[in-house]
Amino acid sequence: MHGWIAYIDELTVGHIHMLIESNDRVKFLDAWVHEDYRRKGIFRKLWERRWKYVKKEFNGYKAYAWAKPMSLPLLLEKGFKAGDSSVYVEMDVEGFKPNGPQCFVSC
Ligand SMILES: CC(C)(COP(=O)(O)OP(=O)(O)OC[C@H]1O[C@@H](n2cnc3c(N)ncnc32)[C@H](O)[C@@H]1OP(=O)(O)O)[C@@H](O)C(=O)NCCC(=O)NCCS
Repeated sequence: MHGWIAYIDELTVGHIHMLIESNDRVKFLDAWVHEDYRRKGIFRKLWERRWKYVKKEFNGYKAYAWAKPMSLPLLLEKGFKAGDSSVYVEMDVEGFKPNGPQCFVSC
């Protein structure tokens, strides 16, 4: 995992990460900018720093991400092609009480 952090004075105002995977793939993930500092180009600047590094060190790899609505526009602007979308799901583990015959459910 690689990370890039943006800070102003001693305050961390944003970060992005990248995971190196098998099969010559790198996954871009976990972009975040502090709410008070959004829409000032911090994500763009972090993204471009990471991209410069990736082009130098991971030439020939496939870069991919599961983007959220706020991060998708920049990825499309940079030339990424939209593929599958995903849906967020959750469940309280404590609250799970099997009812009736149990069956295996995968996702
Ligand atoms: C997504 C996020 C990291 C953007 O950070 P930011 O510093 O405000 O983004 P920037 O100012 O650098 O914007 C870069 C581009 O991203 C896109 N963008 C940023 N915020 C957006 C929003 N609210 N809606 C739509 N597009 C947005 C735009 O294309 C923008 O380019 P533009 O300013 O030329 O229009 C920030 O809003 C955030 O932390 N959101 C919550 C967490 C999240 O959704 N993370 C993304 C997936 S892990």
